[in-house]
Amino acid sequence: MLSEEQNKALTQVGAGTPMGELLRRYWMPIAAVAELDDHPTKPVRLLGETLVLYKDKAGNYGLVDRHCPHRRADLSYGWADDCGLRCHYHGWLWDHTGRCLQQPFEETAHPEARFKDRVRIKAYPVEAKAGLLWAYLGPPPAPLVPTWEPFTWANGFVQIVFSEVPCNWFQCQENSIDPVHFEWLHSNWSRALNGADGRSPTHLKVGFEEFEYGITYRRVLEGQSEQDELWTVGRCCLWPNCLFTGGHFEWRVPIDDGNMLSVGWFFDRVPNEMEPYKQDRIPYWVSPIRDALTDRWITSHVMNQDFVAWVGQGTVADRTQEHLGESDRGVIMMRRRILEDAERVARGEEPKAVIRDAEKNRCLRLPIIGRDFFVNGSSRVESEISRQRTPGLPLRKEFPFLTGQPEEVRAAYRRAMGLPEPGVDARSPAG
Ligand code: FES
Ligand SMILES: [Fe+2]
Repeated sequence: MLSEEQNKALTQVGAGTPMGELLRRYWMPIAAVAELDDHPTKPVRLLGETLVLYKDKAGNYGLVDRHCPHRRADLSYGWADDCGLRCHYHGWLWDHTGRCLQQPFEETAHPEARFKDRVRIKAYPVEAKAGLLWAYLGPPPAPLVPTWEPFTWANGFVQIVFSEVPCNWFQCQENSIDPVHFEWLHSNWSRALNGADGRSPTHLKVGFEEFEYGITYRRVLEGQSEQDELWTVGRCCLWPNCLFTGGHFEWRVPIDDGNMLSVGWFFDRVPNEMEPYKQDRIPYWVSPIRDALTDRWITSHVMNQDFVAWVGQGTVADRTQEHLGESDRGVIMMRRRILEDAERVARGEEPKAVIRDAEKNRCLRLPIIGRDFFVNGSSRVESEISRQRTPGLPLRKEFPFLTGQPEEVRAAYRRAMGLPEPGVDARSPAG
């Protein structure tokens, strides 16, 4: 059980708070590259700050204050100019470093005054990687955007999915180190929702271990042993706000103390028969979390079930009222470690998993169950056999994680995988 003070320390994300300062040492994914190609401006709330992301016509990405320093107009209605973001109210032009490049009427009235040199807008660096746009709100020098191993893989169909979840980010991240929930929240609850009998294999043993970039969790399920990869390799909670399962990442990006942007990055390896496969554009979509008809949370997909658990804990889970047990060892370990890191930052030291070594960052190796599959692929038949052995590996026919996948993404996925159009041939080897 935690004190109220400890609960606050874990959950507050604003500048100047211990966790807010820690989180500002890491790059946060906030949008998809393709998203800004479709709409060059995007209103963003991140770590309690109200901002606007844009891409100008020269290709620069900027992340600046939402309000224009002139008379506070909302710059998410501004337009991306040749170089910078132009305010729609009086035309002042801001660049991605925070400089004011033009003040049209001021320059006509007092060309020699150079008023523009005396005003700046708050601006943060943005970088593109793996189809995502990343923002860094911390002090310079900014570290490197991590090149996690899956970002270097070829022959995959990648998609990015966003959901806004109305609760604090930290209870979402605690789920990244909670193996037992999978058995209940996903497997058994899905059975109950579908009216199916029986139970899924139960957890016999769980283990947690800190490593360079986070904490791994391992499990032995009924019917498996310590020789299986779920125990020998495990999955991981990546520092400070991500779950990595082997084939996908889920970032829990703090919007503010009471809201979280879930950013999912999903990799599906195409079968060897479909190689070489190259994606011209990584698709992105927004998954709804609430059923419009009933106004209840959607429960049909894996991550939606997670969301139900997280929002159910309250906007900010009250950890003074908990009763932690053996299944929560990972949660306890993570809380302790992240609070230590917040103290480290307060002392001016570097926290865990900040990447600054460019050579190493060419590819950051992670624990990956079924790595060979993702890297080398397999034939359709082989992958079907292996999938039955290790759930979660390709080749999936439907997207199981989030509801609302747009039809064009589904169709692009099926084409990439060589799956027949639905209804064409239900008995194909992949069907
Ligand atoms: S408020 Fe933006 S230019 Fe006037
Ligand atoms: Fe889950």
